[in-house]
Amino acid sequence: MITEAAKRVREARAIAVLTGAGVSAESGVPTFRGEGGLWRQFRAEDLATPGAFARDPRLVWEWYDWRRQKIAACHPNPAHHALAALESQAAEFLLITQNIDDLHRKAGSRRLVELHGNIWRVRCTREATVSALPDVPLREIPPRCGCGALLRPDIVWFGETLPAEALDRAFRAADTCDLFLVVGTSALVQPAASLPLMAKRRGATVIEVNPDPTPISHLVGVSLQGKAGEILPALLGTPPGSP
Ligand code: OAD
Repeated sequence: MITEAAKRVREARAIAVLTGAGVSAESGVPTFRGEGGLWRQFRAEDLATPGAFARDPRLVWEWYDWRRQKIAACHPNPAHHALAALESQAAEFLLITQNIDDLHRKAGSRRLVELHGNIWRVRCTREATVSALPDVPLREIPPRCGCGALLRPDIVWFGETLPAEALDRAFRAADTCDLFLVVGTSALVQPAASLPLMAKRRGATVIEVNPDPTPISHLVGVSLQGKAGEILPALLGTPPGSP
């Protein structure tokens, strides 16, 4: 099955890829819903909603500071590198990620849309200006903007809308691609989960890479069961473990 899938990838003119937490699992970044997943240990409504931040910005920032420290120690794995290499092979390409860990960019991906934001960016709650905050650990919790207002993580929380431009690019890519790869996502969170289904309706080949079945596995064309760091280098023809 992987040989046929690899041929489809080689022949594709326009490729869209959707990734989720599973693509970074082999780098050591915790997923959300699997074993040891963040939403099994923490309540999202206490930590990742606008209400939680309004109630207790210190608690929310302590949690993000802990996640930032964890992510800072992680490096891109062969799956990130394979996807970065794929970008230069296709005439049209877009990598759509739900991840906020920046590992795709670290691996060299440039045609990239971050649907859920980025953990290394902050946004002023008064001026809405976005800036980088690389300090690990944070020097001040909660951090403040030069204007005195609180800074918040530039991340999409539950109950918030996704950045319009990122969403627009993602839907356009799903609409026009002839190959859609969906890697390491439980496909439970909308609107990201609807992207591969939209591509399928428009006639694209949809290939899923995941060790476990998901709600969309029976709807995609090809379901490759396994770890992204092993399957993607084999599927995309990059040497395993190559940076
Ligand atoms: P989940 O934790 O829901 O799902 C991770 C998926 O990765 C599961 O389907 C696993 O089977 C799969 N997986 C685990 N290890 C893998 C590996 N080595 N290779 C490939 N796949 C692997 O994470 P997401 O689908 O990304 O949103 O979750 C979507 C959103 O829900 C996240 O972006 C986050 C969360 O709430 C926000 O924070 C806004």
